[in-house]
Amino acid sequence: MTKLSVEQQKFLAAAAALTFVENKMIVGLGTGSTAEFAIRLLSEEVKAGLKITGVPTSVATAKLARRLKIPLADDLGTFKKIDLTIDGADEVDPQLNLIKGGGGALAREKIVASRSDRFVIVVDEKKLVTQLGKFPLPVEVLPFGWRSTLEILRDLGARVKLRQKDARTPYRTDNGNYIVDCVFGKMTNPPVLAQQIKSIAGVVEVGLFISRVDLVLVGRRDGRIEEKWAA
Ligand code: 5RP
Repeated sequence: MTKLSVEQQKFLAAAAALTFVENKMIVGLGTGSTAEFAIRLLSEEVKAGLKITGVPTSVATAKLARRLKIPLADDLGTFKKIDLTIDGADEVDPQLNLIKGGGGALAREKIVASRSDRFVIVVDEKKLVTQLGKFPLPVEVLPFGWRSTLEILRDLGARVKLRQKDARTPYRTDNGNYIVDCVFGKMTNPPVLAQQIKSIAGVVEVGLFISRVDLVLVGRRDGRIEEKWAA
């Protein structure tokens, strides 16, 4: 039996997402290793004549796309609508709720996702979970008052940790903010938790993506591609 590596599963899912890209589309470009596979494949199509405009969800993605000569919108430009966004995820539950932000790009990813007519997630099969919460939930917070924000997150029941760049320096997002990684354990009610966290003053964005996804493409170990459409 075929046994694909995680990287191969990611590639498979990314390649399947490309079938949804059409000429002249505005395409949201996700962040992370799975999204990178999609971006590289997309650049091949651009080279072959496909006309698209990409909207990057991070500085890293913008750099990659520029290097690969994918035409980009400056920031979000004035687009209120993006035709299609392809992005990765850290966990996907059976309702297609997500944890995202392992790569720190959750705020821009959520803005781009929220403007997208179609939001397609590409993952390897290890990302599928029955309940969200094993992967530490990234929460982007303002540097001002961050210790206090972190304590309020702890009061919600999480084990919390300020993400570090190195032993002395906190990690900074592309927006200049901090990330607090929160382990809640299995989440019984992700939509409520997302609202609770988002309502804390000092929180910029939370890596819970609730009811936003249209399609999850899963690259399976056995070489199949599973399509999970939102109800
Ligand atoms: C970045 C993200 C990524 O999509 C997520 O971390 C998955 O990354 P990878 O495809 O490398 O496993 O949310 O902020």
